[in-house]
Amino acid sequence: MLASKRILLIIGGGIAAYKSLDLIRRLRERGAAVTPVLTRAAEEFVTPLSVAALTGEKAYRDLFDLTDEAEMGHIQLSRSADLIVVAPATADLMGKMATGLANDLASTLLMATDTPVLCAPAMNVRMWDHPATQRNLNQLQADGVRFVGPNEGDMACGEYGPGRMSEPLEIVAAIEVELGQGPLSGRRVLVTSGPTHEPIDPVRYIANRSSGAQGTAVARALAALGAEVIFVTGPADVPPPLGMQVVKVETAQQMSDAVDAALPVDAGVFAAAVADWRVARASDKKLKKSRDGMPALEFAENPDILKRVSHMETGRPALVVGFAAETDNVVEHATAKRGRKGCDWIVANDVSPATGIMGGSENAVILISDSGAEEWPRMGKDAVAERLAARIADALTS
Ligand code: CTP
Repeated sequence: MLASKRILLIIGGGIAAYKSLDLIRRLRERGAAVTPVLTRAAEEFVTPLSVAALTGEKAYRDLFDLTDEAEMGHIQLSRSADLIVVAPATADLMGKMATGLANDLASTLLMATDTPVLCAPAMNVRMWDHPATQRNLNQLQADGVRFVGPNEGDMACGEYGPGRMSEPLEIVAAIEVELGQGPLSGRRVLVTSGPTHEPIDPVRYIANRSSGAQGTAVARALAALGAEVIFVTGPADVPPPLGMQVVKVETAQQMSDAVDAALPVDAGVFAAAVADWRVARASDKKLKKSRDGMPALEFAENPDILKRVSHMETGRPALVVGFAAETDNVVEHATAKRGRKGCDWIVANDVSPATGIMGGSENAVILISDSGAEEWPRMGKDAVAERLAARIADALTS
């Protein structure tokens, strides 16, 4: 709930501005008061009248409106809110914020405020990937500006990639977190994700097909509920989520060390597909073809991170969640794995090629805990992550 919270909503000029109307509705449903500010470009996409009608407040439009300055000056306007939300945060607005330009009402409010700011970027994928935008993003993050999204997907311009504004409910969740209202606020959660790469020589390695998609989605969903997430990831296909501490590693041993450095945590979610073995003596020079035949690789066992953390006598997280990718007798194997590893829950799935789950966007999981096996319907990896994060929140707070 956001009762008695005041949000100053700055609407930038992008096609995603239509979603801001729904955002206003969702915020109002939760009891928040929303004061809207439109940039000139935003008025090309949504009208001040519709924004004023939905918020029940005056839609502020231009810095040099002397009547507004008499009623409520821009300094006061910028400081009367609990949170400033910029949605959509266009490339232009992010650029102004990062460089400290103040040449219209929106940018002046953002300069004049000491209120926390949350941005929901929305722009074409090339604009998002442009070095200037990425530079501005880094600068704004360093300045303490918070971000929700952007999401990856089909864009209004017909392209595909990161740049879509987060959905209104995702922005609401991020606002709740910023205002300390998330169920996992104040909790630290560790998530491991992605494959590991075990070197054979400087140019070759042993890897597996994990994309890191499920672990990344879990980290994002936990952060959306207010958790402080430490995300330890191997070399994954998908980019790491924004707005959390990301530790990039290559090998199982490095992942194990990064996990130790992240402890203590309230919960650990071990979604990484860690290689069970490494090459015992990786060569520091590239192996060459030789007349003596194939090189013989000798293997050594990697540390089992999940098992080690589950068995910690001191500092064990209150909740330890493992994953089990199986291809047959899923419940039986995963239940045995839960016992062997000593974790509280196992999220099991069938990764036989026919399911299309490995590398795909959907997952069908079975949650195994001490109350048995609970089968979840097949759904998107984001939806699995949200459901798991909600269960984790429930377990840690009840
Ligand atoms: N895991 C880990 N460290 C390892 C290996 C696995 O933390 N060195 C974790 C994974 O992140 C995942 C779970 O353990 O949560 C999966 O275990 P898996 O590798 O499938 O277990 P094994 O005991 O190797 O099972 P299998 O018999 O399928 O090889």
